[in-house]
Amino acid sequence: MAIRQLPPNLINRIAAGEVVERPASVVKELVENAIDAGAARIDVTATGGGLQLVRVADDGIGMGPEDLALAVERHATSKLADDDLSHILTLGFRGEALPSIGAVARLAITSRARGAKEAFQVAVDGGRKSPLKPAARAAGTEVEVRDLFYATPARLKFMKSERVEAAAIADIVKRLALAHPEIAFSLSNDERTTLRLDACPPGLLDHALDRLGRILGADFIDDALPVSAFRGNVRVEGFAGLPTLHRPNGLNIYLVVNGRPVRDKLIAGTVRAAYGDLVPRGRYPMLALFLDMPPEEVDVNVHPAKTELRFRDTNGVRSLLIGALREALGAAGHRATGSLSHEALQRMAPPASMAPPTFVPQPGARAYQSHVRPRNVGLSDRAQAPLEGVDEPSADMRGVATADETPTDYPLGAARAQVQDTFIIAETGDALVIIDQHAAHERLVYERLKQSVANGGIARQMLLIPEVVELDGEAVAALLAAAEELERLGLVIESFGHEAIAVREMPALLGTCDAKGLLADLAGTLLEAEDGGAKILADRVDYVLSTMACHGSVRAGRRLSPQEMNALLRDMEKMPFSGQCNHGRPTYVELKLSDIEKLFQRR
Ligand SMILES: Nc1ncnc2c1ncn2[C@@H]1O[C@H](COP(=O)(O)OP(=O)(O)OP(=O)(O)O)[C@@H](O)[C@H]1O
Ligand SMILES: [Mg+2]
Repeated sequence: MAIRQLPPNLINRIAAGEVVERPASVVKELVENAIDAGAARIDVTATGGGLQLVRVADDGIGMGPEDLALAVERHATSKLADDDLSHILTLGFRGEALPSIGAVARLAITSRARGAKEAFQVAVDGGRKSPLKPAARAAGTEVEVRDLFYATPARLKFMKSERVEAAAIADIVKRLALAHPEIAFSLSNDERTTLRLDACPPGLLDHALDRLGRILGADFIDDALPVSAFRGNVRVEGFAGLPTLHRPNGLNIYLVVNGRPVRDKLIAGTVRAAYGDLVPRGRYPMLALFLDMPPEEVDVNVHPAKTELRFRDTNGVRSLLIGALREALGAAGHRATGSLSHEALQRMAPPASMAPPTFVPQPGARAYQSHVRPRNVGLSDRAQAPLEGVDEPSADMRGVATADETPTDYPLGAARAQVQDTFIIAETGDALVIIDQHAAHERLVYERLKQSVANGGIARQMLLIPEVVELDGEAVAALLAAAEELERLGLVIESFGHEAIAVREMPALLGTCDAKGLLADLAGTLLEAEDGGAKILADRVDYVLSTMACHGSVRAGRRLSPQEMNALLRDMEKMPFSGQCNHGRPTYVELKLSDIEKLFQRR
């Protein structure tokens, strides 16, 4: 076949393939245009996951009739005064977005320039432009995109469920809203308002705190560390979540470079490196970082969707970020392991191969026979509810606190102390064992939940007062869609307005559970799932149980009585896979006395 010049319509569609990948890309392009137009408020509407309709209305500068007619032509832009691509101050610069959208959907733009008396409308239908006509509208612009990809049915096949597409739309609106707190935003999905954000006064980052809280959750504000640093003419500001505030996916990592939300690999990798192993493997911190630099320091013309960038001084940006994050985390007492203790840690191997331990408890052990704890419980014991899911210490074992403990009686030895309200130190015949109390208890609760499911069901406990948990609209929708499955696993939830859920019943094993964290985690996983979460619960009961166990387990930071510590150790010895928690982290490490001697150069 002979070589031919492609018709303009086809060229448009090829470009659209890159610019407009899914409904969320349409939302992104239209909201960016509204931001560039100096809008003070932007209202986004989507139906059918944005495939049926996306509408973005703004009160920006608007367009007169000539501009409006030009706006939908390829490579027509008002944003590149000179031909200089190295000095971009606006979000758009290619003059590609509107024509690309018009090529694959039914596009209608109604606009009235500020100060003008009339509004006009232009329409492009699958690449065919209709003549301009008069319309009615206040100053500003409204863009409607209907039947996305109707002109390219092949692409429609790649769309995920409406719910997944709606979640992607919400995600991009949140990212743009976080980058521009001076603008008021609203988002409604299938006629339900899922996000409503008032404008924050312009100026210092502090003013944007309110918006940060609305987008990342109030917990984030409480548990975030301020980050502020500069290097040369590059500045980073923002907030880094405490390492304990981790999430199952990276959706809560917000990065903004010169007002542009980005998902940059370099920055993402740097963040991971800065947190290091403070965040468990497979989990992600929460973070909002704003980088500002002169436009020539960063090339935004790298990716067709403009989500990736290239920094002129990559290493400089990297070390600025690492330094700023380490400093923030360090100031909060989460210092990276120093070299000396690192060496010591290397000698402390986790239990061999994580295989189920073959410990056989020795209930008849001498030390536990003759001591019976007095009936009146001490103050320190009463201060906190008993550890749920851990066997009440048997009468035999109650004397542990005062007993002359024999470390060799049990594989995990005798609890000697609790350090930092987080680790239990136990002594065996030839080693020192350090137990992570949260990881260990989590494993226990998980195994018990699993046993309950196998034995026909998880016992539920009704909450005296239903706990109301505030979440964003997407999370609420995802959880409610899974409510029946969750009920089978012991968690009974109910709708409580658009942005909240009431928890009525909980698995009894969880005791006092961090309901908010649990629901946020479950919603995160449901939203992230390829299939919109439809199958996730059925297929991944284990996941749900382990998430429950994680949030229902004794936290680091809680003081345990000696009885509680020893009861935990004895239960661990009976439990399969007790050597690792549900995240794959070890629950305890053992430091042989011989290694300790080596550390002190006695050998
Ligand atoms: N909401 C709006 N308000 C005012 N003018 C707009 C609006 N949306 C688009 N325009 C005008 O239409 C032009 C074309 O928009 P389009 O999004 O296609 O390209 P762009 O924003 O210039 O570049 P890019 O393709 O990178 O987004 C813009 O340059 C701008 O002048
Ligand atoms: Mg644009």
